[in-house]
Formats: sequence, C-alpha cells, structure tokens
Amino acid sequence: MSTAVTRVLTGITTSGTPHLGNYAGAIRPAIEASARSGVDAFFFLADFHALIKCADPVVVARSRMEIAATWLAAGLDPDRVTFYRQSDVPEIPELCWMLTCVTPKGLMNRAHAYKASVDANEARGTEPDDGVTMGLFSYPVLMAADILMFNAHKVPVGRDQIQHLEMARDIAQRFNYLYGRGRDLFVLPEVQIDEDVATLPGLDGRKMSKSYHNTIPLFEGGPKALKAAVAQIVTDSRLPGEPKDAEGSPLYTLYRAFSTHAESLAFKAELEAGLGWGEAKQALCDRIESQIGPMRARYADLMAHPGRIEEILQAGARKARHIAVPFMERLREAVGVRQPAAGPAAKKVEKSARARLASFRDETGAFRQRLFAADGRELLLSEPFADPKRLHQVSRLVAQMDLTALQPDAHGLVRLAAEGQCWASCRLEDLEQVGLALAEI
Ligand code: TRP
Repeated sequence: MSTAVTRVLTGITTSGTPHLGNYAGAIRPAIEASARSGVDAFFFLADFHALIKCADPVVVARSRMEIAATWLAAGLDPDRVTFYRQSDVPEIPELCWMLTCVTPKGLMNRAHAYKASVDANEARGTEPDDGVTMGLFSYPVLMAADILMFNAHKVPVGRDQIQHLEMARDIAQRFNYLYGRGRDLFVLPEVQIDEDVATLPGLDGRKMSKSYHNTIPLFEGGPKALKAAVAQIVTDSRLPGEPKDAEGSPLYTLYRAFSTHAESLAFKAELEAGLGWGEAKQALCDRIESQIGPMRARYADLMAHPGRIEEILQAGARKARHIAVPFMERLREAVGVRQPAAGPAAKKVEKSARARLASFRDETGAFRQRLFAADGRELLLSEPFADPKRLHQVSRLVAQMDLTALQPDAHGLVRLAAEGQCWASCRLEDLEQVGLALAEI
C-alpha cells in the first residue's frame, strides 16, 4: 500500500530568546505534528533572514544556538525530521536569485512588512524608502526559496505570514510557467494555520509577547525565574476562601495550557471553591515545572556543548542537501545555466567524483544525454532522440562496446553507434576518456 507523505516545512527566525508563549503556541504543536505518521517534517533556522533585522554577529550567532538548543531540548527528533540551518544550504540563496529574476517588483511593493516601513516613513515625513534595505524588500523571495527548494506541501505559520505564502505560490507558478516546459518544477505550497493552538496570556493578561514585556521565560533563569514571573501574574483582590472566577483569570488559562482536561477541571473546581491566589500560583509553577524542568536540563546540557548542536545541524544540512543539490542541478538546467559537474557543491555531497551521464530534454523537447568525466569535463553531447527509452538503450549498448577499434571520419570525429543508430560523435583525442567514463557509469 502506498501512503502519501506530506512534506511540512517551517522556518524559525533566529532572533530573541524563546518564552513560554512561543513554546505552547509554536514549538510544542510543531514538534507534536512532526511525530505524526505520513509527515516528512523540515525545520530550519532562518539565519539569513535574521541578518535583515540584526547586524550584530554575536547576537545572530548566540540566538541561533539558543533556538537550536530550545527545539532539541523540547523534543524535536533530528533523526526523524530534517533539522538544519538555512545558511548551510547554499542552494537556497542560489534559488533565491533565480526566483528574484522572475518576481515582479510590483508584487513585492505590496508586501505588508515593506508597506509598514513606508507608511512609518511617510508619517515621520522622511523619504518613503528610508532605512529599507533590499534584504527587507525581497524578504518574501528568500522565504519562497526556503519553501520551494524542498517542494513543501504544507507550511505551518502564524497569520502574519499568510501573504508571504501567497507570494511563494505566485512566484512558483510563474517559474513553472516559464521553465517547466509543461511539467511543474515546483509544488504550490499551502499555508497551514493551526486554529486551536494555545495563545498564552502574559503576566498582565494581554497576549504574551516580547513587545509587551509580559513574558514568562521558558528556560532562562531556572525555576527561580519561573517562580518570580508567575508571582507577578495579575489576579483580583479576592481573599483565600472566596470563590474565584477561573475562566476570567489568565492564571487559569496558563494552567490549562500545561494540563489534561481532567486536571484543568479539578483546578477550576478548587479555584471556585476558594483556593487562595498564592496557592494557585504555586500549583501553576509546579505544573509548568513538571513539563519544562526535564527540558531545561537538556537545554543546559546542549548549551554547554555547542559542538553537539553543531554536529546535529551539520547532519541535518547533509540530509537537506541530499535533496537540494540534485534538484538545483535540474533547476540550473531548466533556466539554462549548467552546473559544472564536479563543482564545489557537488563534490561535498558525492563522496568521490565519478564520471556521469546526465539525461535531459533540450529546447526542442528532444531527449539527449551529456557525458561528463570524473573531473567534471564535458566529454560529449548525444544526438537528439524522440524516445527516451531508445536513447538509454543505445547508450547502454555503446557503453558495452570496445571503442578502441573505431575509426574517425575526415573531421576527426568518431561515431558511437549501436543497432544502426548513432548515439553521439566524439573527437578522436577524447575517445579514450569517453571509454573510461562509460565503463564507470
Ligand atoms: N518569515 C517567517 C517568520 O517570521 C520565518 C520563515 C522564514 C519561514 N522562511 C520560512 C516560515 C519558510 C515558513 C517557511 O515567522
């Protein structure tokens, strides 16, 4: 039985330090979803995106480590998912350029983040593009490259990212139309918005957010910092023994995010029966700590051993490039810039360079092959064939022949033919190399 696998991909901006709201609202549900069967999950640290907002190399590097350690400590299984750093996959910025070349500028003019900067400048009476870098302006193109590089079907993101997904689809469609020759190179990605994910209230009851300064730390500061933050959660002035309004209290909402339904109901009953706020806060701390405590220990261990994080990310990059490198070759061929066969990108992935036969469709739609030597030099280009099966058949027969007996024509060209059909011609001085290469493949 064949089961359809859904490729789910999401990027994590590497800025700031994650808080409890990030954990319950994004990290925990994403890790849970990645463990489901039928899901091929990709998670990456969007550190090229981080450069748009932050020009401090120390902050960029530190935030990346903290965020990688957080996801790993929270249970992301790097053997099961593909977990990598955007900047370790050079095919992504390469694809970004190809996409940039087909992206209408007018589409980018409409991006919310860019428009917000322009509006702010206009309100201030400065030049509309004041302080706007090309990085900020083309942010959605890099994001499209992240997604299209791996042909993701679903992209779980927050609502603020819906427009970026629409742009990625537009760009993919345009690229498919221009270069697909009737076959789609890119899957059109779909946005995935999780409706019933917890939005945690912060200390003041508003949504927990760094910009409101009302967050509860996830790991930083240990149980002490957690306790100190929980002590600041707003409550009303009802005394112990007085019934409390559980549903109206952020404390209860936080409790629910870390409890089963039955546990929540029991806690609610206690509050309504008059549990004091002090005791309720202690109960909330214990509840959060029971989930977060073991993760915090793993987090501290990872942060103390950055080499381990690095190793995991490198292994993830190899997995990602296993897909990205060959796909990039197809894309290069589609747009007409061909990869030198054993260029630096290919070399890293292939253990040892070998001769290689590349099949492709030429601009007339005919099937052809190119033969490359182990050092990447192109040895020959085959004749065009209408039937790809016949092409493979003829090349296989030629590969089995003894080429040394063949004679060149008046131009010094040797015809490589089988069953009366010419596969390709090569120069006499290349004949030995061609024989060696064909024996290798
Ligand atoms: N822009 C996303 C955010 O701010 C992060 C991101 C970068 C992303 N590349 C991505 C998300 C690709 C999904 C897919 O949250």
